[in-house]
Order: sequence, then C-alpha cells, then structure tokens
Amino acid sequence: MPKGDTALAKGNVSQSVVRRLPRYHRFLKDLLAAGTVRISSGDLSAKMGLTASQIRQDLNCFGGFGQQGYGYNVKDLYEEIGRILGLDQTHRAILLGAGNLGRAIALHMDFAARGFTLLGIFDCNPALVGMEVGGQTILDSAGLEEFCAVHHPDVAILCIPKEAARETAAMLVRRGIRGFWNFSHYDLALDYEGIAVENVHLGDSLSTLCFRLNALAQES
Ligand code: NAI
Repeated sequence: MPKGDTALAKGNVSQSVVRRLPRYHRFLKDLLAAGTVRISSGDLSAKMGLTASQIRQDLNCFGGFGQQGYGYNVKDLYEEIGRILGLDQTHRAILLGAGNLGRAIALHMDFAARGFTLLGIFDCNPALVGMEVGGQTILDSAGLEEFCAVHHPDVAILCIPKEAARETAAMLVRRGIRGFWNFSHYDLALDYEGIAVENVHLGDSLSTLCFRLNALAQES
C-alpha cells in the first residue's frame, strides 16, 4: 500500500488535517511554478503561517515526507498530497441551479485540476434552459433523473434554493450520487450516512471574520 493509504483507509486522519491539505497543495503548486526544488519545514511554515511542528505533524499522518537536513522535495510533496486528496482520480459531477452562483462556479472553477469532470448543468427555469455557460448548454432539470441513469454522475453541486435541496438530493442519492458540494442552505449531512457532503456557507466565513474583528477591537 503506498504511503498515506493506510491512514486514509483507516479513516483516522482528523478533519482539520484534511482541511489543511488543499492549502498545502496550493502553496506547493506556487513554489513549483517559481522553480523551487526543495523547502525546509521552517520555510514552508513561514510562508503558510503555520508552525514547522504543525506541518510535520500533519504530514506524519500520511507517513511523513521530509528528510532530516533536506526538508521536502517540492514536486514529490505536491504530487503526493494531490494523490492523497485524490486529484488524480476523476469524479463525474453535475451542477444544479444555473443562477448567479451556479453560473459563477461553472465559469470559474477549474474542475479538471481538482479531479472532477462537469458532465452537465441543470435548471428548472425555461428561460435559462438552452443558454450556454462555460461551453456547456444548460439542460432542463426535468430530464435530470434520466440523465443520471444514462451518465452515472457520482457528485452533485447544489446551487439551488434550500426548499428544493432536500427532495432533489433524495432523488440523486437514489440515482447513485455519492458526494454533494452543497451551497444550498440546507444541511444535507443531517440526512445521509455514507454520503460525502461538503456544505459551503460563505456567510459562515463572513461571520467568523466578524467575530475576529470584534475580538481584535476588544484587545486594543
Ligand atoms: P439564483 O436565484 O440566481 O439561482 C437559483 C437557480 O436555481 C435558479 O436559476 C432556479 O431556476 C434554479 N432552481 C431552483 N430550483 C431548482 C430545482 N429544483 N432544480 C434545478 N434548478 C432549480 O440564486 P443564486 O444566487 O444562484 O443562489 C443559489 C442558492 O445558493 C440560493 O439558495 C442561495 O441562498 C444559495 N447561496 C449560498 C451561498 C453559500 O455560501 N452557501 C452563497 C450564495 C447563495
């Protein structure tokens, strides 16, 4: 079993470590683009605003990758973290809701770089059906179930209102969807076991900023 797989297979990597991995990957990509061949955990930590021991602890969850006195080989670590994240695999995604948010995601997200292929974009609004977004034609969501039966997507990106999310998700799970990137304000994780759900709430992030601003104001 390759490095990292044992921990992943046992599911014993903490969520906070998993959440830091894409950030490591992003920083390493920039280092690679800048021609950096190797980096010490001290330098990497300074760039990322983490402690060197935090980085070592995180990477040790997957077997550790640094060498004493050498640091990390940037290309190797970049590729290994990409593999741990599963970016070398391809998930078949559909996007529901071609409104403001759905269109922005369809246009600006580099799905291929993250291990996803966007198979189709769906909406129930006849005024949107047939329009082009990022080279794809918006499809009528009335045909969604049949589309799933034929094309077997395994991931759904939900950019539909909360009220529509529960019923739609139930149908999609019946049709083989195993992961949701969920922007609707409905908390899908409450309904499904054994389905990967990533609920995204930009508002939560803004509220966190608010808290931190208030905390700073109280300190000064
Ligand atoms: P929008 O109103 O521009 O787009 C929603 C689209 O979903 C519409 O085109 C509508 O026709 C379509 N739709 C509704 N029910 C559907 C169904 N059952 N199947 C297929 N399509 C359906 O709204 P916007 O701004 O794009 O936001 C979409 C949702 O995401 C909203 O519910 C909003 O509250 C939420 N949102 C979440 C954010 C987050 O951080 N999680 C940030 C911004 C919006």
